[in-house]
Amino acid sequence: MIFSKTCKTLEDTKQLAQVFAQLVTDGAFVSLYGEIGAGKTAFVKLVADALDVKEKVTSPSFVILNEYHSGIIPVYHFDLYRLENEGVSTILDELREYSEGHQLTFVEWAEFSQDEIPFDHLKINVTYSDDDARIYAFEGIGQTSTNIVRRLSETIS
Ligand SMILES: Nc1ncnc2c1ncn2[C@@H]1O[C@H](COP(=O)(O)OP(=O)(O)O)[C@@H](O)[C@H]1O
Ligand SMILES: [Mg+2]
Repeated sequence: MIFSKTCKTLEDTKQLAQVFAQLVTDGAFVSLYGEIGAGKTAFVKLVADALDVKEKVTSPSFVILNEYHSGIIPVYHFDLYRLENEGVSTILDELREYSEGHQLTFVEWAEFSQDEIPFDHLKINVTYSDDDARIYAFEGIGQTSTNIVRRLSETIS
């Protein structure tokens, strides 16, 4: 099941992020896809804000991982966008560890990666529509993430 939401403005995306944040307080592993400027980091930032993260959330493009511990659950934010395909394969085991436990992990996925993520995760695909409009499409891979997507679709009309 895929749940898609069109956000006409950044404010719409903020509201979506606030609902999403309430559904992931037990932890989740989220992979984000979409071209540069689509709104992947913007969504991470808005979810972190909704979870009371106090630090400034920035794009981790050059350090690969940022982590935030001031909110109601730990938030980890990877950006693999510039990693080569084999680079992604070498860290899949490490990513799996981040998928276990009560923490929220976001991964902005590598541009050309062919890898499929071999554990429960929630995919978000972000596409431009026009101007400030973005389409956020959510898909659960595995039971835990599928339940989150179902509840998201039930909460948002
Ligand atoms: N509806 C919207 N949802 C998300 N971002 C939006 C929206 N409208 C405009 N933007 C802007 O688009 C840009 C998205 O950039 P960013 O999140 O860094 O992209 P990515 O991480 O996908 O490369 C931000 O400057 C953000 O303010
Ligand atoms: Mg980004």
